[in-house]
Amino acid sequence: MKKGTRVNHPPRVSLPEGNRSLVGPIHSSVKFAFEDVAETARHLQGRRDGFFYSRTSNPTLRELELLLAELQGREDCLLTGSGVAAVSACLLALCRSGDHVLGFIESYGPTRYVLQHLLAKFGVTHTLLSIEDKAGMERVLAGTPTRAVIFESPTNPVTKIADVQHLTDQASRAGALTVMDNTFAGFHNHGSYPVDIFLHSLTKFASGHGDVMGGAIIASKRLIERMKKDIVTLGPTLDPHAAFLIQRGMRTYFLRYERQCATALQIARLLAADPRVARVHYPGLESHPQHELARRQMGEFGAVVSFELAGGHDESDRFAPRLVTAQRGERLLPTIGGLRA
Ligand SMILES: Cc1ncc(COP(=O)(O)O)c(C=O)c1O
Repeated sequence: MKKGTRVNHPPRVSLPEGNRSLVGPIHSSVKFAFEDVAETARHLQGRRDGFFYSRTSNPTLRELELLLAELQGREDCLLTGSGVAAVSACLLALCRSGDHVLGFIESYGPTRYVLQHLLAKFGVTHTLLSIEDKAGMERVLAGTPTRAVIFESPTNPVTKIADVQHLTDQASRAGALTVMDNTFAGFHNHGSYPVDIFLHSLTKFASGHGDVMGGAIIASKRLIERMKKDIVTLGPTLDPHAAFLIQRGMRTYFLRYERQCATALQIARLLAADPRVARVHYPGLESHPQHELARRQMGEFGAVVSFELAGGHDESDRFAPRLVTAQRGERLLPTIGGLRA
C-alpha cells in the first residue's frame, strides 16, 4: 500500500478474546460496515442488529441511552444534541396539524417558544395554564381533544411543583400523552408515575461540569419506535465525544445530586432569613406552598434556588456584580422567566 493510501487505512487493533476495557470506547466512526451487502440489506430491513450510520444509532450513544432509560425506569431512550432539541424533536414527532397541546406558563422559556411559535407554524394549537390550575387542566382536557400535555417539575426558574399523579390521571382519561421535562428533578425521580415520555437536558445534572450539552427522550420501546424515524430525520444527534463525557459525568451523578440538593437547601434557608430578600423559591423550604407535594413526589428538592430582592430590579443590578463565589451567567430580568413570580 502506498503511504498516501495507508494513512487512510491505519492498522486496526481489536481486543483479544477475554480482554476488555473497563471504560467503553468512543465510537467516533460515522459509518459502520457489515461483512457483505446482503448483511447490510438485512440490517436496513430491520432483520438483524447492528449499527449503520451514527446519525441514527451509535454504540457509544447506545450505552448512555440504556443507562438513562434504566435510571428513569423506562425501556428506551434517544439522545439529542441538547435539551431543547429533545423538547422540540419530541413534540414535532408526536404532533400533526390540527392537534392541540396543553402546556404551562411556568415552563422553561424555549419550551413555550416551541408551542407558541414552532408548532404553531404547522397548525398545532396549544393552551397555556398555570401548573397549579388543576380546575383549568380538567376543563381543557375534558373540552378539547389533546395530543400531549408537556410539563416540568420543579419548573425553571420559579420551582413550582406539578401534581404528577393528578396530571397523569387527567391526561390519560382524556387520551393525551404526558411529556415531562424532568431535568430539574433528575433521572431517579418520578419514574413510578405513569408519565409516558420523560425529557432531560443532559447539560445539567448528567454532564455535571458545565462543559458539554445533550438531551434525552426516555419512554417505552413502543413510543420511542413511533418517534424515532421523525426524530433522526430532524438530525439532532448527540456527538459520541459528548456522549462519552456525559457518561463519565454520570458516574458521580448521585454524589453530586445529594451534595447539590443539600447545598441548595442551605442557601435557600440563608436567603430566607435575610431581610434584604423578599422571596425565595425553593421547594425544600417549609414555606414553599407545595413543599409537602414535593416531599411526596421527589424525596429531595433539586438544586435550583431562585430569589427576589426586596429592593427589586435596581437592587438586583447592584447585587449581581458584587457576587464573589457564585458566577453570574445571565442578565437579570425584572421578572423571572417572563413571569411575575
Ligand atoms: C427545565 C429545562 N429543560 C430544558 C432545558 C434546555 O436544555 P439545553 O440547555 O440542554 O438545551 C433547560 C435549560 O436550562 C431547562 O432548564
